[in-house]
Order: sequence, then structure tokens, then C-alpha cells
Amino acid sequence: MKLPHKVKIVEVGPRDGLQNEKEDVPAQVKIELVNRLTAAGFSNIESASFVSPKWVPQMATSKEVMAGITRKPGVIYSALTPNMQGFEAAMEAGADEVVIFGAASEAFSQRNINCSIAESIERFRPVAEAAKQRGVRLRASVSTAFGCPYQGEVPLDAVGDVVARMRDLGCDEIDIADTIGVSTPRKTQAVMERAIREFRIDGLSGHFHDTYGQALANIYASMEVGIAIFHSSVSGLGGCPYAKGATGNVATEDVLYMMNGLGIETGIDLDVVVDAGHFISQFLGRKGASRAGNAILAKRTA
Ligand code: HMG
Ligand code: MG
Repeated sequence: MKLPHKVKIVEVGPRDGLQNEKEDVPAQVKIELVNRLTAAGFSNIESASFVSPKWVPQMATSKEVMAGITRKPGVIYSALTPNMQGFEAAMEAGADEVVIFGAASEAFSQRNINCSIAESIERFRPVAEAAKQRGVRLRASVSTAFGCPYQGEVPLDAVGDVVARMRDLGCDEIDIADTIGVSTPRKTQAVMERAIREFRIDGLSGHFHDTYGQALANIYASMEVGIAIFHSSVSGLGGCPYAKGATGNVATEDVLYMMNGLGIETGIDLDVVVDAGHFISQFLGRKGASRAGNAILAKRTA
């Protein structure tokens, strides 16, 4: 299959990226990061997570963040909502899209959201209904679709089954997530092809963590089977608190560098993203994890 002319990049750094940071990142810093990402041209920024603050303390400032950001018309500012409590908080905060998040492996579902896959779907049902009633966009994330930190292999049909259940809840978009970054390109294509049997190809996205350095190859492999939405995190921030050892999402700067080289349109200004990555890395007191970002910064000062 020919590669797409255009892809949508969903920036998840302010949520997936920062949720794993041990030190408190003040709301003002998160707000500035989201504003910088807005200026870079993203059409969708995952900005907040309305989960239990006991489970993920870093996301406790989500309400403040959503209230403080400068919204650009047309940009979707998304928030994670595991249940009705989260949904109501997200609505009060003015989220444009809510994200329910399940898993393709039972073990990860239990560790991450404290219930079985079947129970999670029942928790998501009222959230999905409320989102539809209010005309809010509904996205679902399917974690551990390529492998699980607790149970190892995840059968293709387990992915297909959860994708079908999310479809039946009325999701507008479904993310196929490599939570621990273990996939390799052929495996990625097999999983994506299984998901494509259950849901519209233009509503499926690839969410790749880069633990084993395979994320860019997995994105390319996904494009070869027709996927054209990808998630990435500025400066490669992140990890999941319930997936030990898993590193951040693929770095946005690296994805943009690859897309630019391939002549695939993203609508995003790489230089502005590099600045945003530099800003957050300086705040965190470490070198950014984006190879392209670091190369561009080095070239600027050469
Ligand atoms: P639970 O303990 O089973 O839920 O947690 P509960 O309903 O029994 O509630 C227990 C307490 O949590 C109560 O407070 C509730 O009020 C509170 P208490 O009475 O003890 O003081 N609570 C909440 N507080 C704020 N907002 C809420 C909320 N819900 C309950 N929405 C629950 C179940 C799902 C809430 C919990 O397990 C949780 O918050 N988990 C968070 C997991 C998480 O955020 N993981 C990281 C995000 S997922 C991810 O990163 C993967 C992804 O990137 C894709 C990939 O890479 O795979 C998306
Ligand atoms: Mg993730």
C-alpha cells in the first residue's frame, strides 16, 4: 500500500509524558507546555487526565491545567476519563474529547485500572453514553496490544475483541497501544491488520512507546498497512506508572523529522516543537530524549 499523503499526530506529552514524572511539575509549567504545542500547530493535544490522584499524583492538577491553557479554535484538547467521576470532571474542565482506556490483557487491566476487561467495558458504557449525549468526541485506548509486562504475549484475537467492544461503545477513534514498546514492524502490521478487521481504518491510531527503539519503524510499518494517525510525546517524555521499565512515547520531533523527510504532511512546525521540547527538558533538568530534537538544537548553536 502507498504511504499516506498526510497524517494526524496527536501530541500526548502533557499527559502520557508527564504522568510518570516523580517530581511535581507545577500547573503553570504544564500550561506553558500545552500553549507552546498549540503554537506548533497540533490539532489534538492530550492535555489532562481525570484519574484518581492517589493512583497518579502528577495528574492531580488537571483541572487547573485545563482552566489555564489558551485554547485555539479547532484544536481538540483531550482528557483521560476512566469512569463517570472522571467524565464529569473533564466536562467541567471543558475537555473537547474524552478518552476511555482499557487493555487487551487481563493482567494489565487489573494493575492499571483495578478491574477486569469486561468490568472496564461496563464502567466505560455510561461514559460513552454521556459523551454521545453531550456531543463530545469519544476516543478509546487499547493498552498492551503488542505485549504485556505481566502476561507477556497477547493474542491477536484479544486485541480484536477489545477493539470491537470499543467500537460498539460508539468510539470515534481507537488507539492501538504498545504500552511497553516491545513490538517490531511485522508484528505491528499483524496487530494493526487484526484491528482493521473490527474498525474503520481512518479511525485507528498507533500509540508507540520507544522502550526497545522500534517506535519509528513501527510507525512506518503501520503506514504501510494504511494507518494515518499516530501519537507521540514532545522530547520523548513519559512512560506508564503501571508498566515498569517502559520508556516514553516515541519523540514527536523524531516522528516529524521522518514525516518531513518522507514528504508526508503533518501541519506541525518542527522548530517550534524543538523549542517546546527544550523548554520542558530544561525544567526537568535533563537532556531531551529526542534524537532529532537534540541534533537540531546542536546545529543551532554550532
Ligand atoms: P478504584 O480504586 O478501583 O476505584 O480505582 P473506586 O471507584 O473504588 O474509587 C476509589 C477512590 O478513587 C475513591 O476515593 C474515588 O473517589 C477515587 P476515596 O473515597 O478512596 O477517597 N476516584 C477518583 N478520583 C478522581 N478521579 C476519578 C476517580 N475515580 C475514582 N476519575 C480507577 C479505579 C480507574 C479510578 C483507578 O484505578 C485509577 O485512577 N487508575 C489510573 C490509572 C492510570 O491513570 N494509568 C495511566 C494512564 S493509562 C496509560 O498511560 C496507557 C496509555 O498511554 C496507552 C498505553 O500506552 O498503553 C493510555
Ligand atoms: Mg502510553
